[in-house]
Amino acid sequence: MKAEEIERVGVVGCGVMGSGIVEVCARAGMDVVFVEATQGLVERGRALVEASTLRAVERGKISEAERQAELGRIRGATSLDELADRQIVIEAATEDAGTKREVFRRLDEVTPPDSVLASNTSSIPIVELASVTKRPDKVLGMHFFNPVPVMGLIELVRAITTSEETVELGRAFGVRLGKTTVESRDRAGFIVNLLLIPYLNGAIRMLEEGFATREDIDTAIHLGLAHPMGPLQLLDLIGLDTAMHVANVLYEEFKEPLFAPPPLLKRMVTAGRLGRKTGRGFYEYET
Ligand code: 3HC
Repeated sequence: MKAEEIERVGVVGCGVMGSGIVEVCARAGMDVVFVEATQGLVERGRALVEASTLRAVERGKISEAERQAELGRIRGATSLDELADRQIVIEAATEDAGTKREVFRRLDEVTPPDSVLASNTSSIPIVELASVTKRPDKVLGMHFFNPVPVMGLIELVRAITTSEETVELGRAFGVRLGKTTVESRDRAGFIVNLLLIPYLNGAIRMLEEGFATREDIDTAIHLGLAHPMGPLQLLDLIGLDTAMHVANVLYEEFKEPLFAPPPLLKRMVTAGRLGRKTGRGFYEYET
């Protein structure tokens, strides 16, 4: 199969990342079925896509007619069986190895044998997901960035089992989505998170030590390095629970202290201060 032949895409999970992946696939003209665990979550997923596509209209990226056409190409479902005719499936389910392994086992059963199975995981080895299927050569990582419709990158992750043909398909598929791809080996953090987590941890430690205020840390990076946002603002966007999870996985893999989540991050996660999604992280947000 060639990337230009892909018309039918499946997405598993329609949270922050999944809904963005659904949106960019529909924007590229593909028919998208997404699967969530319950009807309530299907509706929440659809609402996320509706809100984000509305923002795209308001910012002049697409017309209202294009938005309607995009939404018309998207269907939500509650069973993986609905993915039986999909040529590629991108999994963006909860970052839990057991859940993802079960999803890949089921995807291997329900999808045609030549379909490609991709995971948006930022931390679980791709080979672990590939090895529960009978097509490990057709499994790869496709790591998108938040917010997916805005960020231009996909990290392609080649497990030791992934074929060259599958990596090439991933690359060409990324181009169809309007993204640039980079390739990484299958080890925790890939390229971006391996560099990002020590930086974010460093900002938390600075705040914790009273070295500088949250505003000064963020302003310093925003204006001093021309990043669109500072590290504490970025942590609030990513979600402190997600950042802590990735930090733990990196620490497990490399045992380097700079990856270990600082105590303040752990305390904030325990307190439910997860960032924008809960209305409070390092900053406060209107929910
Ligand atoms: N479709 C298409 N375009 C959209 C859109 C949509 N649904 N929603 C917004 N946009 C466009 C806007 O039109 C705007 O485009 P323009 O610059 O051409 O006008 C652009 O996206 C920015 O949108 P907004 O104006 O609404 O937002 P801001 O200017 O406030 O920027 C931000 C917000 C994009 C989040 C920016 O601050 C940013 O880039 N922050 C850094 C984000 C980042 O680093 N993400 C990576 C996180 S790490 C990760 O995901 C990995 C994980 O494993 C941890």
